Formats: sequence, C-alpha cells, structure tokens
Amino acid sequence: MAAQMESIAVPNIEELFRPTHDERARQSLVSMLRKHAIIDLRAKVRSEYEDKVAPELSARGQTVKDWRDIESAMADDPVHRIYSSLRYNAQEMCYQSVQPAVERALPSMIDLARDLAARNPTGGSLQLDPSLPIPRYLNALDVHLAPGWVTAEHTHDDVAQGAVVAFGGKVFTGQHPYRKRPGVVAESIAYWIKKTRPGFNPRRILDLGTTTGKNLLPYKTAFPKAEAHGIDCGAPVLRYAHALAEHEGIAVHFSQQNAEHTNFVDGHFDLIVSSFFLHEIPGKATRAVLNECFRLLAPGGLMIHMELPDAASVTDYENFFWNWDTTNNNEPFYTSYRDQDPIALAAGAGFDRAKAFKLTIPDSASFGEERYAKFLAGEIQAPAHGSGGWFIHGAEK
Ligand SMILES: C[S@@+](CC[C@H](N)C(=O)[O-])C[C@H]1O[C@@H](n2cnc3c(N)ncnc32)[C@H](O)[C@@H]1O
Repeated sequence: MAAQMESIAVPNIEELFRPTHDERARQSLVSMLRKHAIIDLRAKVRSEYEDKVAPELSARGQTVKDWRDIESAMADDPVHRIYSSLRYNAQEMCYQSVQPAVERALPSMIDLARDLAARNPTGGSLQLDPSLPIPRYLNALDVHLAPGWVTAEHTHDDVAQGAVVAFGGKVFTGQHPYRKRPGVVAESIAYWIKKTRPGFNPRRILDLGTTTGKNLLPYKTAFPKAEAHGIDCGAPVLRYAHALAEHEGIAVHFSQQNAEHTNFVDGHFDLIVSSFFLHEIPGKATRAVLNECFRLLAPGGLMIHMELPDAASVTDYENFFWNWDTTNNNEPFYTSYRDQDPIALAAGAGFDRAKAFKLTIPDSASFGEERYAKFLAGEIQAPAHGSGGWFIHGAEK
C-alpha cells in the first residue's frame, strides 16, 4: 500500500505558474536591475563614500559619530540616489512582474490547494483560523513593497499572495522563476546544527513566520523523524505552503497563529527556528515571541533565528547600508530591531545568558567541506551576512 501511494504523483502548484514569453522577459529584466543595484551600485556607493564623501567630511572637520551621520552625508549624493531609486523600483517590480501570470493561474491554484488540504496525501495538515486578529504591523502597510504582502485575500480560499510572494521572491533573488532552489538558510543552519551538535535529534520542530515554508522544509529533510510545524498569520501563504510541501512529499503541519502567543503546550518543541522574521515586528512583539520560544522549548531544546546582524556586530558604514530598508522598503522596524542585543533579548526571555549565542555561519551550499572544517576549528571566519554567510542568534534551554 505504501509503495502504491508513493507512486501517485502529487501535482505541483508551482507548475501552474506559466508566464508568457514577454512576462519572462520582464522578470529577467527586473532580476537584472535589482542585481545591478544590490551588487554593482552598492559597491559604487561604498567607494563614493570612502573616496569622496568621507574625505570631504573630514576636510570640513566633521566627525562621523555613527551610521546616521553617514546617512545624512549621503542623502543628496547622486550615486546613492541612483542606487536607492533603482533598488526601490526594482523591489516593487519584482512582485508586479509575476502578478499577471499568478492571476491567470489562480483558479487552478486554488482548486489544487483546496484538494491537497482536504486529502493531505503526505500526512501533513493545514489549520486556518479566520478569527485570528492580524497584527497591525502586518497589514497597515505593504511590507517589502509587496502589494497585499502575506495577508490580503480577494476571493475564497485565496492563495494569490502565496504565489506572488514565492515567485516575486525568485525574481528578487535572481532565480526567477524556474530554477528550483531549496531554502538555503534552513539548509545552512541544519548543517551547522549537525556539525556542532551531532547527537541532537529534535522530536518536533517549529518555524515561526514560515510564509511559504521554504526555510522549514530542509529541516524536515535533515531531521526526517521530527514532526515539523510552521506558523504564520497569513492564510494565503499558508495554503500555498501546504500545497508545496505536499507536492514535495514532506509532511508539515501548518497553522495560522500569532507567534507572540501560540496554542502549543509548554515544552512541545526541541527546535524552534525562524528566518527573516524578527526584524519585521516591533520590539514589544519580539519580546513576546522570545518569551513564547522559551515556554515552548523543552529542556535541552534549541532556538535559532536567522536575522540581520545587530548594529553592534558591524561597522557604521554597514549599519548605514543595512538600515536603508527602514525608510525605503516598508520595513519600519529594521533599525530598532538591529539596535537590540540578541544575547540580552534571549536572557530577557528567560534563557541562560551563558547558553545564548550570536554568530555568522557559512552558507553550507557554497562554502565547501574543507573550508567548513576550518571554520569550525576557528581558523577562518564565515563570509559576511548576505555575502556567503548567515547571521544567526539564539539560545539553548
Ligand atoms: C519575511 S517573511 C519570512 C520568510 C520566511 N521565513 C522564509 O524564510 O522564507 C516574515 C513572515 O513573518 C510573518 N509574521 C509576521 N508577524 C507574525 C506573527 N506575529 N506571527 C506569525 N507570523 C508572523 C509574516 O506573515 C511573514 O510571512
């Protein structure tokens, strides 16, 4: 019976997305524009600051106290303005470039997601809670400049925002839209856990702010016996996440919950993770989420968040670079989140400060075994966050 079930292919919701030739061309252009902004122009902005603006400041006797002084000095700089303008517009266009194809595919995507949610062929599940109050910080603005972000619903059982965020994200990272790539963050963290804690075998894993589950599935692959859970406030992204996981043959339990206070019982999880999540919520919510992590972790459990490096971990110039999103990308909590000390946050939630950590780990797919061994031995450092490394923080309970 099991063998018979395995042979029945579960349809792939991603394959329903079929952009026309012109739409593909537009997506390629947007990917290139964004890459040009975030790689080439980013480097030019840095040399503009180092070679021109900083010497001018110093010639005028002005000292740079922190990143805000750099931001003021660069505000009218033409290279920085071109970079900002291109980056902002490319970001908006990432989502716009996939919307027409998602709209055409929507009825069949909804039918498929509905069918999989009713059947759960891999044994996963989807639990939505239409009465869940959506936090204002999630829907008061189009986070990431994505219209409707993860919560907008225009029709019954809508999955559109799941598809827009998933495919817009592929355009954003230049994998658009056909190259399949796993959640590289989750892969890298799972790899690091296995290398640093060989005996660690979580019974249950929870991913907070899972969106479409991209950075949850690799944990289930790394720890196949664990029960995997993903929560998010957005129903459309969870429907999409569930359909994707079922297609991958990976049993995941998705539920619509606020990570500040969930319905799981105390000590239910051994591994709690998140990626690209905490910087999107205000400080009060961050503290509530970390308190919840402490409550939900069993003794010996592990909490790991992949996040932006905190302000104290990087230079003034890098703080200027990272905080760009606060004013330009509809991510109002970027700066205030980064101003916090991750170790103090963990301690404030009840974790033993001595068991809290923050570090940058290598991207496991690109770093190579030999260099990884050197990293673990403390002989070399991981590349910077976002350039071949991932900043993580967390604690053991
Ligand atoms: C940038 S996305 C995370 C991306 C995802 N973790 C990944 O790696 O692909 C942030 C997610 O956090 C979710 N979120 C924000 N506040 C939340 C809360 N209080 N509880 C649960 N999910 C939340 C948002 O709905 C959104 O899907």
